[in-house]
Parts: sequence; structure tokens; C-alpha cells
Amino acid sequence: MTDSNAEQIEYWNGAAGERWAAFQPVLDRALAAISDAVLAFAAGRPGERVLDIGCGTGTTTYALAKAVGPSGSVTGVDISRPMLAVARARGVGVNFREADASTRLFHPTHDLLFSRFGVMFFADPLAAFANLHKALSPHGRLAFVCWRDVKENPWASAPIAAARPLLPPQEPVDPLAPGPYAFADDARLRRILSDAGYRDIRIDKLDTTMHMGEGVDEAAEQALRVGPLSRAAAGLDDATLDRIRTVVREALKPFATSAGISPAAACWLVGARA
Ligand SMILES: C[S@@+](CC[C@H](N)C(=O)[O-])C[C@H]1O[C@@H](n2cnc3c(N)ncnc32)[C@H](O)[C@@H]1O
Repeated sequence: MTDSNAEQIEYWNGAAGERWAAFQPVLDRALAAISDAVLAFAAGRPGERVLDIGCGTGTTTYALAKAVGPSGSVTGVDISRPMLAVARARGVGVNFREADASTRLFHPTHDLLFSRFGVMFFADPLAAFANLHKALSPHGRLAFVCWRDVKENPWASAPIAAARPLLPPQEPVDPLAPGPYAFADDARLRRILSDAGYRDIRIDKLDTTMHMGEGVDEAAEQALRVGPLSRAAAGLDDATLDRIRTVVREALKPFATSAGISPAAACWLVGARA
């Protein structure tokens, strides 16, 4: 490792981790279409040994446990204590481990390394994926979902664009820095995985939707809890937050469908072999 993940460990054990922990059902509903797609892509089979990297509150960990059945095993790994506490309280039959997946040494016995949005936060992604490669059995595979460019994700870009005049000046974002959009550039991602020792790399587009709520009130609340607006608006006073809610509701109206407020969500489905 050339850098440490201290900043991310602090972030996911602070307000962000508490928010994800508190809103687990809301977030799971928002991410349901993506979840189904990445679980089908990963195709966990009975008897397999699986690691769920950055498992958060454990939704995909329990889904994987169901897929591998009693003859298989699933371990969820995360750095966030509040999210792991929710994960552990939700069921039995799954191991959860508090660990930094980029440096923790795992037994080289896993058939599947899986992640739903948990692998874009490594300070040194090449070193992290090389470390994770050592957790795979010789025939093991990697399967995860990550975001494409924020501009292709109006669920994230529309609320912050609408709120920008009400936000404090924002630092320019380094597109390669650890964060949700760190792997937007698929050529870079392919290079990292290849240099980390993976082969048969495939990076497929997943174009789906993010369910933000039944109506714009609920959707605006969600935008303030998860995504770039939630980060930018952290710590603002109540009056400013109310004004932000008003403009965000307006910005989300065009995304109303018969199924609720469902803007486009643009992801990569990433697969590779050991
Ligand atoms: C966007 S959340 C996704 C959580 C969960 N996979 C889900 O889809 O609900 C990212 C997760 O990655 C975890 N994470 C970030 N860096 C990590 C690391 N180095 N090792 C393990 N987990 C990490 C965070 O704590 C957080 O739970």
C-alpha cells in the first residue's frame, strides 16, 4: 500500500456509515434492480465459498448465503462498525468480519469475490485488488458492480446540480480519488485488474434505474441521505436544507414514472477470473 485507507475508515464509521445503517431498508429498495442484476451476474452456486467485499448492512451477503446454501459459506467484510452491527442483527448463518479488505490476508480458498458498490474506496486500488486476488482459489472469480460517470447517473447529478447555488463552494473532485465514481473510466479499471493479476476481464454496461421514492418528497430526502448531495450538504443549517429540499423536489419531478421517482442508473458489471 502506498497510502492508507484511514480517511475512508473514518468516513464509513462516521455520519455516512450511520446514515447507511439507519436507512438500510430505503437504500435496499433504491438499489433493488441493481442488486438483482449483479447477483445474477455473479451466479453464486451451491457449495461455493464467497467473500462479500464492503458488505455494508449485509443485504447481498444474505442473498449470497441463500444462493450457496448450507454446503457453502459466505463472509461479509467491511470497515464500518455501524453498518456491520445492522448486518449482524439481520440474520444468522453468515460471518461478518470488520477488516480492511485491501490489506487483510484471506485464505486462498474463495470461489467468488463479490461486491455491490464496495470496492471503489481503496486508496491504492492496484495493491487492493492484488491482495484480494490472493483470496481466490485457482478457479475463483471476481464479480462486482460499480458506478459509471456521475453525469450518466441523474439520480446523483440532478439533485446536486439543482442545489449548487445553495451549497458552500465545493472543492473540485479528483475523478480518480477513492469514491463512488473512481472506476467510471473502464479502460483504467481494466488496467488495474489486469495489473493485479486477473484474466478474462469483462466490463459490461448495466443501464437500469434507481428507485428514489414514491413521490418527490421522499426522493428529495433520499438525495440528502445518499449520493453527492448528501456529502456536499453535510452540516448545513435547517433553513438552507429546507430551501435545498424545495429545489431538489422540482429537479426530480421529470423522473416521475408509474413506479415512483426512478431516474436512470448507469453501472459497470465487472467480472474476471483468478
Ligand atoms: C457504498 S457502500 C455499499 C455497501 C453495501 N455493499 C451495499 O451495497 O449496501 C460502500 C461500503 O464499502 C465499505 N468499504 C469501503 N472501503 C473498504 C475497505 N477498504 N474494506 C472493506 N470495506 C470497505 C464501506 O464501509 C461501505 O460499507
